[in-house]
Amino acid sequence: MNDAAHDIARAAAELKGGGLVILPTETVYGLAADASSPRAVAAVFAAKGRPAFNPLIAHVADVATARRIGRFDERAERLAERFWPGPLTLVLPVADEAAVCDLARAGLDTVAIRAPAHLWARALLTAFGRPLVAPSANRSGRPSPTTFADAMAETGASAAMGLDGGPCRIGLESTVVALLDETRLLRPGAVTRAEIEAVVGPLAEAQDDAQRSPGRLARHYAPDLPLRLNATAARPGEAWLGFGRFGAERLNLSRGGDLAEAAANLFTYLREADRSGATAIAVAPIPQTGLGEAINDRLRRAAGFVG
Ligand code: TXA
Ligand code: MG
Repeated sequence: MNDAAHDIARAAAELKGGGLVILPTETVYGLAADASSPRAVAAVFAAKGRPAFNPLIAHVADVATARRIGRFDERAERLAERFWPGPLTLVLPVADEAAVCDLARAGLDTVAIRAPAHLWARALLTAFGRPLVAPSANRSGRPSPTTFADAMAETGASAAMGLDGGPCRIGLESTVVALLDETRLLRPGAVTRAEIEAVVGPLAEAQDDAQRSPGRLARHYAPDLPLRLNATAARPGEAWLGFGRFGAERLNLSRGGDLAEAAANLFTYLREADRSGATAIAVAPIPQTGLGEAINDRLRRAAGFVG
C-alpha cells in the first residue's frame, strides 16, 4: 500500500469509529463525518460552532448511492449526468432517513447531496462505502478554508486526522439547487446559473434569505475586518483586494480579470488581508456575470449584507 492509500484506509477507519476527518474537495476543504451517525454529526456541529438548524450536505461516491438517499426525478438525473462528479449540490425529497440522519438534515424532509470530483474525496467515499457529511471546515461564520493549513487552523483540533490534498482547485463552495416543486437556486457557486439553466431551464429565485438555504445567515463567510465593496481605490489604512484593471500591488484576485482565478483566490486573499494589520478591506468591483454571481454573493455576505 502506498502512502496515499494508507492514509485513505486510516481515514475510513477513523470515520467508522465516529471520528472526524479534514477532507480536501475540489471546492473547499470539508470536515467529514459518518452521515448516518447522530453522534458523529453532533461532533461536526460542535466543532464548527454551527447552529443546529443549518443542515449539512451528504457527499456520495456516485449517482447510484445518491438515488438511494434522495428521490431522483428527471431534473436530478440530467443535472447529475452533466455535472457529477463536481461542484453541484442537489436538494431533493429524502428517501432514506437513516443514511443521512435527522440531525444532519436539521429535521427537514429534504436532503442535500453532492458527488465531489476530488480524487481523494472520491477515494475516501468509496473506501467508507456510505454517505459522509462534509460542511466547509471553517468555524461557523468564517471564510471557507481552501488550503490544508487553513482547514487545520479552523477545525483541525476536533478532527482525528487530516488529508492534505493541496490547495483547492475551485476555491468557492458548490452551487446548491433545490429540485422540489420549483427548481430554485439556493446558493450560487462553482457551477454557474447559465450552466444549470442550459440543462433544466429557468431557475426560480430565492425570495428571501431564509428561503435560500436554512442556514444562510446574512453575515457569513466573514473575515474579522470590515469590508468595503465596489471600491475603486484603497483609502489610507485599508488593505486592497484588486481585480483586473482595478489593480492592486500585491493582492489582486486576478490581474487578467479571470473570474475562475478570482474565485480560487478569494478566501485565501480575504484571510491574508485580514492578517495584514489593516483597519478594513476594500474590494474592487467584480462583474456579476458567470462565476461573478457566486463571488459577489460571498463578498456581500462577508460585508454583512443580505444577498
Ligand atoms: O462545496 C461545498 O459544498 C463544500 C464542500 C466541502 O463539499 N461544502 C459546503 O457545506 O459548503 P456547508 O455545510 O458549508 O454548506 C451547505 C449549504 C448550507 O448553505 C446549507 O444551508 C445548505 O447547503 N443545505 C444543506 N441541506 C439543505 C437542505 N436540505 N435544504 C436547503 N439547503 C440545504
Ligand atoms: Mg460553509
